Amino acid sequence: MTTAAALDAADDLAGFAAEFAKPPGVYLDGNSLGLLCHAAEATLREAVEAWRALAIRGWTEGSTPWFGMAREAAARLAPLLGCDPADVMVGNSTTVNLHQLLATFRGLERPFVVIDGTHFPTDRYAAESNLRLSGGTPDEHLVVVPPEPDRLLDEDRLIPEVAELPCLAVLPSVVYTTGQLLDMKRVTGAVGGTLIAWDCSHSAGVVPHRFREDGIDLAFGCGYKYLNGGPGAAAWLYVHPRLRDRLPGLAGWFGCDPARQFEMAATFHPAADAGRFQIGTPHVFSLAPLLGSLAVLNDAGIDRIRAKSVAQTRFLIDLARERLGRHGVGIVTPADPARRGGHVTFTHPDAAKLSRALRARGVVPDFRPPDMLRFAPAPLYTSFAECQAAVDTLAGILADDAHHRLPDADDLVT
Ligand SMILES: Cc1ncc(COP(=O)(O)O)c(C=O)c1O
Repeated sequence: MTTAAALDAADDLAGFAAEFAKPPGVYLDGNSLGLLCHAAEATLREAVEAWRALAIRGWTEGSTPWFGMAREAAARLAPLLGCDPADVMVGNSTTVNLHQLLATFRGLERPFVVIDGTHFPTDRYAAESNLRLSGGTPDEHLVVVPPEPDRLLDEDRLIPEVAELPCLAVLPSVVYTTGQLLDMKRVTGAVGGTLIAWDCSHSAGVVPHRFREDGIDLAFGCGYKYLNGGPGAAAWLYVHPRLRDRLPGLAGWFGCDPARQFEMAATFHPAADAGRFQIGTPHVFSLAPLLGSLAVLNDAGIDRIRAKSVAQTRFLIDLARERLGRHGVGIVTPADPARRGGHVTFTHPDAAKLSRALRARGVVPDFRPPDMLRFAPAPLYTSFAECQAAVDTLAGILADDAHHRLPDADDLVT
């Protein structure tokens, strides 16, 4: 196995780590909250300064007038998603954007919602409440396709469920628990026109997307994970141009054609681009850091980021097999890189305690019930040496059996 030192020496992205504020220790939680980069801090400060110096004029004046900030963020995000800036709206939260897609595209002709059994809870809550709003019931109209005994989703089982029902499906690009990456192009092509809204929270910024080329209908995701936009950062949604003429299900005045918004008309004149899916006044301080962080991601280039991510997850899997298997640690993340997102998930009955013990030793993974420990290297700021240190620390904890004596964790999902 190539050593961490050799891999770090050959890493052409290594220099990017200096652009981030790294806390002491080893941070492997960039798939929950990405770290602050200096560029994001600068664009946030710029917005604060504009507020100080320009007050209301900040909407239309200054280096990045707030009125155009969401579209500027969309322009910077589009290369990571493989689409046109006009296909993307940056704003709201992830959950609100899913509500927007459901409210806009499910319609009466699609009485069902299909989701996968590995869904992030908010996706199900949003789907169920959307069904109730139109007189449906989750019992009758929500179809949940369960994972296989190895915890992974079988695309060949998902496809017929989605294809055979008049539904809008909500599926993950990368499953937040297992790290499994679905073949979005294949699934989209195989479901014969059924709409799928892809939750790309765990792929945007670490896995390249080709939404336009792959014919993806709808997608949405977080701004605070691999996009490094900061806690509660503005989220995003994508709508294929062939679907864009729909009126938003959740309309608001910031979805107006920007040239007409201040006519204050009684009639809603929607923007021609995906900006029509904005709702109210953008959260400027939650958008501003994304301008800086997306510039850094684009400087690095998503294909180089993915290449390093694949190498790092491979490295973690190989190390874990060598050092952790004998301690009862399992690996649920697929070994095939084409089926693997940006994080690696280990299983162990004491995963919650192990997560705590790791944190006490300066390694920050996270725990997901009931028994999963996620390690997420972020290619822009995580080194191979840090991946090695994390596995070494975990092996040390397991070897001296100290985890058996740890108190039960009371802060499970941290
Ligand atoms: C897959 C996935 N979807 C949705 C969300 C939640 O989105 P938000 O709380 O930003 O609305 C998360 C948050 O971790 C997530 O991991």
